[in-house]
Amino acid sequence: MSIATGSAAGHVPGTAPAPQAAGSATGPATGRRYVRRFTRTERSLHWVHAAAFFVLLGSGLVLYLPPLSSAVGRRPFVKDVHWWTAVAWAVAMILVAVLGNRRAVVRAAREVDTFDADDRRFLRGNLRAPQGRFNAGQKINVILTAAFAFLFALSGALLWLGERDHAFRLAGTVFLHDALMYVSLVVLVGHLYLAVIYPRTRHALRGITLGMVREDWAREHHAKWVAELDAEPDVEAASERDR
Ligand code: HEM
Repeated sequence: MSIATGSAAGHVPGTAPAPQAAGSATGPATGRRYVRRFTRTERSLHWVHAAAFFVLLGSGLVLYLPPLSSAVGRRPFVKDVHWWTAVAWAVAMILVAVLGNRRAVVRAAREVDTFDADDRRFLRGNLRAPQGRFNAGQKINVILTAAFAFLFALSGALLWLGERDHAFRLAGTVFLHDALMYVSLVVLVGHLYLAVIYPRTRHALRGITLGMVREDWAREHHAKWVAELDAEPDVEAASERDR
């Protein structure tokens, strides 16, 4: 199995041949119906991050918007919720990545970090350019999410320290923290639209919750990834473990 371009997912034997989706790459008739898209570690990272994001967004908005602030009251408590959720988020993300399937995390990072000619065509608007496990838009979403998480944590830590020591009060920290909130909200709305509403992509929800997606769907949206799975039958045993 090729780690640089392969995926953390694999074959699952099915009982009926997978229908070939229109426009998909042609592959051998494998007889499987589902392929593993995300390992348990990847899914846990996603949902820990998403849960923390929503608590931080909710508590942050209460601190930020005066009408919400006065409706809710209890500002010190909301501030504590905001701060300790951020701490718990950082600890949980590190624990899941370190104690979970580290190889899957490294492999996913490598996939996200690689933009080939098809990815560039996809970004120029050719949505039919064959894609790997993550399409080029998803790779950008991961990169933005990671960059925003780092900048949120940095500016949040400076705000917390600045309340205790004036030396940490840097101009622009509040602006950065607030601007990140607005931009990540816009990115998140697009992400949720594709994940939950848009009919052609919302089957992805099955992958990020249960781990598996229909093979014909995967072939249509991520042809190069499924072609790699076709070429690498040894991935099957490893993927069965779903770590
Ligand atoms: C209820 C809320 C959410 C739902 C239903 C959801 C759904 C999904 C789905 C279905 C995927 C897998 C897409 C695929 O198969 O490739 C995914 C991936 C991902 N999600 Fe979420 N998500 C949610 C919240 C969030 C939040 C809050 C963030 C970050 C702030 C986030 C960041 C990501 C990233 C970076 C990926 C990988 C790249 C991508 O697929 O775009 N998600 N999510």
